[in-house]
Amino acid sequence: MTNLWSGRFDTAPDAAAFQFGASFRFDRRLFEDDVTGSLAWARALAKAGVLTGDQARQIEDALTAILAQGTAEAAFVDGPDEDVHSFVERLLVERLGDAGRRLHTGRSRNEQVSLDLRLYLRRRIPLLKRAVAGVVGALAAQADAATDALMPSFTHFRPAQPVLVAHFFLSHAAPLRRDYARLAGAREESDALPLGSGAIAGTAYDVDVDALARDLGFTRVVANSMDASSDRDFAATFLYACAMTMVHLSRLAEDLIILCGDEHRFFELSDALSTGSSMMPQKKNPDPLELVRGKSGRAIGHLVGLLTTIKGLPTGYNKDLQEDKEAVFGAEDTLSGCLAVVRSVVGGVTLNRARAASAASGLLLATDVADYLVGRGVPFRRAHEIVGALVRRLVAEGRDFESLSIEEWRTASDRFEPDVVSRVTPAVSVGAKRTPQSTGPSAVRARLAEVRQWLDDVGELC
Ligand code: ARG
Repeated sequence: MTNLWSGRFDTAPDAAAFQFGASFRFDRRLFEDDVTGSLAWARALAKAGVLTGDQARQIEDALTAILAQGTAEAAFVDGPDEDVHSFVERLLVERLGDAGRRLHTGRSRNEQVSLDLRLYLRRRIPLLKRAVAGVVGALAAQADAATDALMPSFTHFRPAQPVLVAHFFLSHAAPLRRDYARLAGAREESDALPLGSGAIAGTAYDVDVDALARDLGFTRVVANSMDASSDRDFAATFLYACAMTMVHLSRLAEDLIILCGDEHRFFELSDALSTGSSMMPQKKNPDPLELVRGKSGRAIGHLVGLLTTIKGLPTGYNKDLQEDKEAVFGAEDTLSGCLAVVRSVVGGVTLNRARAASAASGLLLATDVADYLVGRGVPFRRAHEIVGALVRRLVAEGRDFESLSIEEWRTASDRFEPDVVSRVTPAVSVGAKRTPQSTGPSAVRARLAEVRQWLDDVGELC
């Protein structure tokens, strides 16, 4: 078989080495983008006077037909070709002969592959953003349904202070909103036209790259043709956005695995999204969440893999860069699958109010007791000591604050008054928090309203 560069060589390529270097089996995913780019290039060549109007029209018609066929029938995008660019060009030449052979004038696959990947990310990132917003919507719906329900928060995974369950759900919405912005940033970074860079030095034809950028919907043209031929920063930025989102999904999964588990049971997973054991009949396992946690390793791996691939490359295109695509596609698939399943799991979680609230009580009110003393003029450090000693005694006796008589309170400090009993409860603790980012009920309500407004702005129903 001849290929795009066989004129240079005496012998046919070694079949195994050719297969080793071929990327068609995975870059076929860029088919639509490759044709889109070629259609625009044909128009640009016609404007530059390289193609006659008639030749450009023939090329455009043939490419449009190829695109229609390839979109209608996935199996059509197949063949012995080295990559998707060779595939499209082969079909074009088969249909048009010499007119097809003119399309690659002034253009290199080095910029073509960069263009295709940029076009691909530009159209695919919005789908991921939408799926991220979907998870934020499911978290907001849970926050809404939780109303004034209480649960403990943890530091060092030891009970820390009472919080609203709504605050917990919104604590997972906040990082996902940053991920949304990161994905938007990755799309913005991809938004530069590399065509006109040629193989590395630029193109000798009078192509109006600004018009070409507009034609393809890019807001700008790359700054330097040498840089453009080896720049995959935009792909790495995308992989970072995916990896970070996966880290957040993994942590959400971990929280739910623990808090739905028998030791806590603050929440219950829906049966439809749990799995059983082949041997132990009592088991209800959180497999989907465990897989999300597990798959975060892939997304991080894709990022580290690409950074490692590009870190030692000399300037200009190197075939190593072909490794970018499987990383991008792999991260995209992993993330979109995980976002969908996390959205369902979060949507199907039910709250065990009584159990979560009772775990929010007890010694984790110690800070509130110290704050009570501060309110009575005791310096905080001193209050901390007094309450620490009281906690030590209660732990030794297996009791908590509720069981203390007023005499016992007053033995600890004569600043305690009878109202301490009604002042030291989880609901009062939560109600006392005042800062806008706190678990104070009005702050959480305001934050939830703000998340809803954001969902509305990004076009996500919740
Ligand atoms: N399949 C190649 C890639 O993915 C396309 C660019 C090939 N360019 C070249 N000079 N061999 O990077």
